[in-house]
Order: sequence, then structure tokens, then C-alpha cells
Amino acid sequence: MISNMVSHNSYPVISNKEVMSGVYLMWLEASEIAAAAKPGQFIMVSCNSNLLCRPISIHWVDNNRLAILYAKTGNGTKWLSEQVSNSHIDILGPLGNGYTLLPYAKNILFIAGGMGIAPLLFLAETVIQQGKDVTMLIGAQKASLVLPDKLLPVGIEPVIITDDGSMGKKGRITDFMSEYLDTADQVFACGPAPMYRTMYKNNLLKNKPCQVSLEVRMACGMGVCYGCTIKTRQGLKQVCHDGPVYNFDEVLWDELIDI
Ligand code: FES
Repeated sequence: MISNMVSHNSYPVISNKEVMSGVYLMWLEASEIAAAAKPGQFIMVSCNSNLLCRPISIHWVDNNRLAILYAKTGNGTKWLSEQVSNSHIDILGPLGNGYTLLPYAKNILFIAGGMGIAPLLFLAETVIQQGKDVTMLIGAQKASLVLPDKLLPVGIEPVIITDDGSMGKKGRITDFMSEYLDTADQVFACGPAPMYRTMYKNNLLKNKPCQVSLEVRMACGMGVCYGCTIKTRQGLKQVCHDGPVYNFDEVLWDELIDI
């Protein structure tokens, strides 16, 4: 059953622009979802009626407007990238649980690996508005896959890390994490499964409280099909319903399947 907070509707596109190589920022006029959305939640987006819906993180909310940041990786997102202003997109959301900020946390460290930056900016902006200090490690393969500064919230302190050294520090985001952990009261991370597994195997978090957002395959997005099940210390969980945000220690990282 769809809760009262969840809307299923067709919403007009305001703009849809390529902001990094193969990555698009789409703004939609979606007042019901924007009003109910919490950082870390996601929406199910119908990418052409012949294809399954795609789970996409809520990237940002600004009054009645909602943004998604997505990579063109297949037929569905290719279709999405071709939509122009005033096209209508069928959306269900907001879905999932969202991040929880610890009341005592003053210095917040964000770890954004690749497209993992997508759900973190909405939270970063919220946290900055609460007067917290925010450092964000932004990892990407190369400079053309780094989100331009002008699209980051004002007040954020970004640290850019690229695999090939074409921008910022050279290396993997996990190579630099420990330098920034000591001053952090709480960590929020989003990135691919190998990044999380490296964090786990090398104990990079040193027991700092950390919440992560998981990206897994989803079909229904509503806790019905069990297609998004993962193994946790509390047993099997549905990412669309119980997540996508988990405490880092909850997830059995060796059992998580890469997508
Ligand atoms: Fe169907 Fe999660 S996507 S149960």
C-alpha cells in the first residue's frame, strides 16, 4: 500500500542538462514529493513505459522543485536524458528511510565516491543550514566526472580526488579517508560496493559513526518483490523499504553483490 506521504504522479521537467561527462541534472516541478522528501530518500522513475522503473536518489530539493543527478548507462537513462523541458515524467516517491544526523555531531565528513555524490548534496545543504562544519571528499575516475564547484552547496569544503590525478589529489578516495576522520563526529558515505568493502576490510572508519546509502537493483521499490534483498547483522532486509540508508556496521559487506 502506498503511504499518504508517497505520491505517484506525472511531473513536468523544468530542465535536463549534462553537467559531467554522461551525467545529467534534471529539475522537475514536483511539489508533493519535494515537500515530503528527506535527504537520503529516492524516487522510482518511469523511463519510458516499456521499461522497468529506475530507483534514483533525490539529489536536491528547492521549494517546489526536485532534482535528480543520473548517469546515462542504459536504455532507460538514455531515454531520460532525451527529455526536454515540459516533458512529463512518471514518478513514485519519496521512498526509503533517509539519513539521521546525530544531535551532538558538529563536524561532518561526507564521502562521495563517483555517482555517490547524488544523494549527499541535499543532506550537506541541510547540515550546513544547521551551522555544522562540512568536509566532503569527492572521488571520481577523472576530471570530467567531477561535479562542477558551482553545483555544490555554499559552505562546503570539497576535497577532490581522481584516480588519474587529472584534478585534485591522485588516488582512490579510500586512500585519503583516514586524514580527515580524526576531526569528524559523524560520517555519511555513498559510493560503489568496492569502496565500502575497502572501508570495511581496512577498518578505515576507526569506529566513527557512519551511515551509508546503498545502490542495488530494484523492481517495485515498495517492499513487494524482494528483488533488493541484502544480508545484514539483523537478517535479510529490503533496501527499498528498510534502506537505502544503513549504519555501516549493520551491513554484511562480504555478501553484498556489485551492480
Ligand atoms: Fe521490490 Fe525492494 S525493489 S522489494
